[in-house]
Amino acid sequence: TKHLAVFASGTGSNFDAIQQAIEEGALDSDITLVVSDVPTSAVIDKAKQKGLKTFVFNPQSYPNKRAFEIEIVEALQRADADYIILAGYMRLIGATLLHAYEGKIVNIHPSLLPSFKGLDAIGQAFDAGVKITGVTIHYVDEGMDTGRIIAQEAVKVEDTYGRDDLQRAIQAVEHRLYPTTIQTLLKQ
Ligand code: GAR
Repeated sequence: TKHLAVFASGTGSNFDAIQQAIEEGALDSDITLVVSDVPTSAVIDKAKQKGLKTFVFNPQSYPNKRAFEIEIVEALQRADADYIILAGYMRLIGATLLHAYEGKIVNIHPSLLPSFKGLDAIGQAFDAGVKITGVTIHYVDEGMDTGRIIAQEAVKVEDTYGRDDLQRAIQAVEHRLYPTTIQTLLKQ
């Protein structure tokens, strides 16, 4: 069975979905480490409640990205992680992590890439007035939201939707698509 390291900065609803899929036996793996750059994030509380190992760091207490990524790689190796699953990790992955886990880092982004890269993709799509947006799961490379696409699913922006409705619709798709896509990837 493959060991996943989940990286997250916030709420962790995608972490929940992955964790639940594992508990239900729909995803044949385990979460060996939860990494967060936000010590106060809800995802870290949830991970601890589940008894999972965590690595939490404050980027501001390091001189640069390389310095904290070296420690992350050490923690990943101690935890025997096979894949890095980014689930709302709001930080660009640097060369240190990319080289240590080449081809093993996966991200979920709340738009149909290459549209609406970067921060607040849901707000960007909503403000642009598009009628279709969606969810993308992709490999991570040195760019921002530029790596090879693994899976995508469209979400219709209904005329009645406010920004929050769109967020709900997108996250519902994320919570289904991420676990099934990871499972497919692990079986390859
Ligand atoms: C998710 O919607 C994810 O697609 C997005 O952050 C949210 C995290 O929610 N990621 C990005 O925007 C990456 N650029 P969660 O903490 O509830 O899983």
